[in-house]
Amino acid sequence: MKRRLFLFASAASLSLLATWALAAEGKWTPRQVLQIDPAWLQQQGLELPPGQLWDEARGTGLLAAAVSITGCSAGFVSPDGLIVTNHHCLFGVVQEHSRPERDLITHGFLARSRPDELPSKTMRVTVPRRFTDVTDRIEAAASGAADPSARTRAITQAQRELVTACEKAPDAGCRVAVFDGGLQYVLIETIELRDVRLVYAPPRAIGEYGGEIDNWMWPRHTGDFAMARAYVSPEGRSAEFAPGNVPYRPEFHFPVARRGVGPGDFVMVLGYPGITYRSLIAEEMAERRDRFFPWREQVFGEWIRAIERTTEGSPDAQILVAADLKTIQNRYKNAQGQVAGFRRGRIVERQQEADDRLAAWAADRPEAAEVLAARDGLRDVLKERLETWERDFLLSLVPVGLTTVPGSAGTFSKMLYHAVTIAHLARERAKPDAQRTAGFTERDLPRLRDRAAREEKSTYLPADREVFALYLERLLALPETQRVPSVEQFFGKYRGAPVALRAHLEEVYKASALTSASTREGLLEAPEAALRERQDPLLAFGFAFDDDLTALRARLAAWEGRISVHRPTWRRAVIAHAGEPVAPDANSTLRVSFAHVKGYSPRDAVTYGPQTTLAGALEKHTGEEPFDLPERVRASAADAPGSRWADERLGDVPIGFLADGDTTGGNSGSPVVNGRGELVGLNFDRVWENVANDFGYNPAIARNVSVDIRYMLWMLDDIEGADALLKELGVR
Ligand code: ARG
Ligand code: GLU
Repeated sequence: MKRRLFLFASAASLSLLATWALAAEGKWTPRQVLQIDPAWLQQQGLELPPGQLWDEARGTGLLAAAVSITGCSAGFVSPDGLIVTNHHCLFGVVQEHSRPERDLITHGFLARSRPDELPSKTMRVTVPRRFTDVTDRIEAAASGAADPSARTRAITQAQRELVTACEKAPDAGCRVAVFDGGLQYVLIETIELRDVRLVYAPPRAIGEYGGEIDNWMWPRHTGDFAMARAYVSPEGRSAEFAPGNVPYRPEFHFPVARRGVGPGDFVMVLGYPGITYRSLIAEEMAERRDRFFPWREQVFGEWIRAIERTTEGSPDAQILVAADLKTIQNRYKNAQGQVAGFRRGRIVERQQEADDRLAAWAADRPEAAEVLAARDGLRDVLKERLETWERDFLLSLVPVGLTTVPGSAGTFSKMLYHAVTIAHLARERAKPDAQRTAGFTERDLPRLRDRAAREEKSTYLPADREVFALYLERLLALPETQRVPSVEQFFGKYRGAPVALRAHLEEVYKASALTSASTREGLLEAPEAALRERQDPLLAFGFAFDDDLTALRARLAAWEGRISVHRPTWRRAVIAHAGEPVAPDANSTLRVSFAHVKGYSPRDAVTYGPQTTLAGALEKHTGEEPFDLPERVRASAADAPGSRWADERLGDVPIGFLADGDTTGGNSGSPVVNGRGELVGLNFDRVWENVANDFGYNPAIARNVSVDIRYMLWMLDDIEGADALLKELGVR
């Protein structure tokens, strides 16, 4: 199994890394951590034996205290299931519980005692329990496939069987993670905790200080921290929320560091990075540069303006859309940063050179034909994808069974989401469980129900309708060769007629039962015939649109089948050529990044220091959002230098710090720990120059942004007087 040597080989097989060129590059899997020369790690600053981070025999270790929390990362910080993560990661829960008369978004929230903690229906925490390499199983299942679509079906089927078997274990949540397009498949068993409650969130003016202006930037003064607690049944089993549940007792948790971080210190970022694109070939990267990110910027920009316009002057409406708006704004600015980073870093051009070097190197080797054919194969798939690119991009924005499209899953329009989800579920439920699309099996039902209920709490119909209209307008404007049948059938006559389209949509929304949460609930599990009988205009469109999504799914499956052959071949050559471990692309699995606290130079003549302070936050204060520190924080700031949470060297309470960690979206909330495995901060962002780091690591500008844990402790101590929590954190 030589080809898998670098990803998940046994620990003993390589310790050849004494002179490791790019130390900080790489989001390493737990097993890869054990392949790294322990002497090198020690030299970097690791004081624990690597075996304490991860025990291969048991398949766990301190790293398992880093958990995944619905799209973000988090860490256990007490034996009673207390979890720290980012404010923006728990913002959805804060929003869900906010009312104009009890505005937790603005004022923040602190549970003074455990019964006060606020439940959430959609937050889930997964704790890693076991990793098993299943590449052979998957490949065996796929090898006999007649064509690429059949290959994808066989792979999906094999994955599903593994997951079903794995989930027979008590409390288990399982998935098969795909590394670098199929280079390796790993079955990941986790404990899935479903009763997760909000414990603490600072006021928005702290948790989101600087807002979209400072987002993706340095210097930063955001207190992007919050806390939750995971609960289980009295028997210790994973369970839905119930008042009688008890705190989950994790095997591992991170103690809070006694000494804070400073410049030059070694840190590890532990978390669940979502998607990176480093294993793409140059032409595929060009698709991201020239199409994907520019389109995201355009579409999301349009949505942001629509949501802001339709909610203007209405605080109630603004609360409803707050969480979704924030997500879209974040992606919008990310897209801009990606495009800028491509230009600045000449990323495609450099990848082209690297690809050509690899091809030349492979040319004299026995596997040359296979490697070059793989590159051609990837190019061919891309060429086909580009033919219907615009249509497929737009369809992929609807988050229904299209999880294979990286970066899909817009949250608007919710009515479109409900219509397609109800239609699709009715059809899938008519099939045996094993043949259904992902996310629509019997075990997914509670999740779909919870999601529908959750969406209701962030639905504001005028905004929803306007985003729907904008979406339809884009679909109607597609070139003739790419037109979407359902959209043509239902809305074709409104092409070029924006006012009439909106008037029509208003009628549709009025006539549809989907706009009412209670009626909708009853429809979620209704059979197709019963739904059709209602002659609901939104549902009727949902069924037709679902046909178009199904056609897209089929196209994607065929492309995926080909990619799953070519990408691993190409990546094996890349790894052989490198001659040292290569970290796989991010795929929402547990990774470690080794880093040091340091500043950087963003441009000519400018140098950024690695730490910010409370004094710096005050300096930015204007009294106007997003630079409007709460009165009580400003009042206490004068005493901050004398607080026990002040940094001696800085003479103030520290707020943010930079390190050269290798991170991406999903790493938000990642515990940042020192060489002893003690918590010093929480990752929450990257710097502007580093947004395109998803395509390659550049040590000069690769900086992740973390909030110093001492800022949170200062808030809890000097502002909130949260004694019980401080005690639980072991600092009181
Ligand atoms: N850019 C960070 C991340 O990608 C922070 C996002 C939340 N903050 C915000 N202002 N939207 O998630
Ligand atoms: N804020 C991002 C998140 O939610 C992390 C920033 C990044 O992309 O590096 O995961």
